[in-house]
Amino acid sequence: MITNKNIVRDRFPTYFGDNMIETSMRSELVSYPIRDIVQAAKKYEKQGTDMIYLNIGDPAPYGFRPPQHILDAAADALKQNYSGYAPSEGDHELKETIAEFEKVAPEDVFVTAGLSEGIDFLFQALLDPGRNFLLPVPTYPLYLTKERISYGTVEFYDCDDTNEPDLDSLRKNINEFTKALVVINPNNPTGAVYSRKTIEGIINIAGEYKLPIIADDVYDQMVFDGEITPLRRISKDIPVVSGNSLSKNYIYPGARAAYLAFFGEGWDKIKDATQRLCNQRLSVNWEMQRAYIAAIKGPHDHIKKFNEELKIRRDLMVKRVNEIEGLSISPPRGAFYAFIGVEGPWKTDKEFVYELLKTGVVVVPGSGFIPKATDKKYFRMVLLPKPEQIDEAFNRIDKFMKSC
Ligand SMILES: Cc1ncc(COP(=O)(O)O)c(C=O)c1O
Repeated sequence: MITNKNIVRDRFPTYFGDNMIETSMRSELVSYPIRDIVQAAKKYEKQGTDMIYLNIGDPAPYGFRPPQHILDAAADALKQNYSGYAPSEGDHELKETIAEFEKVAPEDVFVTAGLSEGIDFLFQALLDPGRNFLLPVPTYPLYLTKERISYGTVEFYDCDDTNEPDLDSLRKNINEFTKALVVINPNNPTGAVYSRKTIEGIINIAGEYKLPIIADDVYDQMVFDGEITPLRRISKDIPVVSGNSLSKNYIYPGARAAYLAFFGEGWDKIKDATQRLCNQRLSVNWEMQRAYIAAIKGPHDHIKKFNEELKIRRDLMVKRVNEIEGLSISPPRGAFYAFIGVEGPWKTDKEFVYELLKTGVVVVPGSGFIPKATDKKYFRMVLLPKPEQIDEAFNRIDKFMKSC
């Protein structure tokens, strides 16, 4: 009989060795390049370097605040009786509000502590060892970490020079172990907003291979150039699970409130598993769930204003990139990132980024988003700082590149 006990004992070394306090195999597979760079940056900061942090997709340090009515709703909830555990799957009024907004049933909605937890639940509910979620490349690194610590295989599809998913690559990389296709639109790290044709193409391929789609819609309101085609709105009978969050669209990442919404047929077992995953972690902060109700009900005028600010920064960044020899960019149209190509004497983009750090400019190496060997080098920066700071960062980058 195969039990947990003998699977583990057959595969792992015995314990009573010289050093009892060993890391687990799983923990060694965990990394998060967006934050890993901060440790190195703090070293220079301590030495007195004036740092410009362009690495984290959090609007708060750059002066952006959540809309006041959302903060008021959180403050009101604090004064009321929301100090207990909330229902595990989410506050019922919030689930109904999301369901109405998403046009699904309340039973199709699960509230999670950030979409990060939602993504974790999807991996736990769907992915056995050796299987894969087919990821875009470049991709948001949490998916890579989760794929690794699920002992899945890291499989991906390419994007073209304009950062649109390459549909041939998508089709070619589906294999018999693929459990779902992941689509992040607008994209982190590239800021690409996919064309309707691409979205339709992905849906058709999913239908052909009978694969569900995981639609990471966490930036779906952050579009400052052109229009978005929300995949979940046109997917019809293809099973789609869409993830959304207070973090980005409502500028409130510290709230840690988000949701998964299941669209289409065939999800019953996964919804049951998601409910059990919600139960075992008890609940999400209740006050913040009440704030999420206010967020969805509106007003939503912050979105237009925020996108206008992002567009100003995007235009400036593209101008500066085009002025500097060795840098290149496909202009972002959504989210708040730019993925910038870099050419020069550095062997890897990590080397470039760690050298650049000495000038006080903190960006993330592109390789943190690209799980395969490539001779191209990139870095990711956020579009959130004030235009003067962006200008100053590019002055330093320009000087640094000329000196190499
Ligand atoms: C593409 C993408 N998905 C999911 C998340 C997780 O968001 P949160 O856990 O704050 O809701 C992020 C955060 O940066 C992201 O960029």
